[in-house]
Amino acid sequence: MVEKSLVFIKPDGVRKQLIGQVISRFERRGIKVIGLRMLTLTSEMADAHYQEHVERPFYPSLKKYVTGGEIVAMVLEAENVIAAIRKMVGATDSAAAEPGTIRGDFALTKQENIIHASDSPESSEREVKLFFPELS
Ligand code: CMP
Repeated sequence: MVEKSLVFIKPDGVRKQLIGQVISRFERRGIKVIGLRMLTLTSEMADAHYQEHVERPFYPSLKKYVTGGEIVAMVLEAENVIAAIRKMVGATDSAAAEPGTIRGDFALTKQENIIHASDSPESSEREVKLFFPELS
C-alpha cells in the first residue's frame, strides 16, 4: 500500500547542515518527496505534534529544543514507507542507534536526535494534516 510519512529534520540537523544528506538518503532509496517546507515550530504546533508527550517530565526541554531553530518538514511517499523510514532513522536514543541509520551516523543523544518520522499510519495522517493540510 502506498503510504505517506511526515518527517522533519530537527533544529540540530539543520544547524549541522545535514538537510541534503538526510533527504538524499530517502531519494536514493526510491522514496518520493511530495511536500517540503522550512519553518520554525510555534509553541502551539509543538504541543499539537507532541500531544502524547506534553505531560512527560522531558517535555519542557524537548519543546525548547524543537522550537529553538528552523526545521525542515517534508511528506515522503512510497509503498509501505512508514516502517521503512523508521528503520532508516534508527532508535530514538541515538547512542543506541545502529551505524548506518540516520541517528546512528549523525547523533549521540536521546533528545537531540536529528529527525522525526511518523511511527504509524494513524500518526502519519494526523501529522501530515498538521504540517501540510493541503496534502492530507
Ligand atoms: P521522536 O521520537 O521524534 O519524538 C519524541 C521526541 O522526544 C524524541 O524523538 C526525542 O527527541 C525526545 N525524547 C524522547 N524520549 C526522551 C527522553 N527520555 N529524554 C529526552 N528527550 C526524549
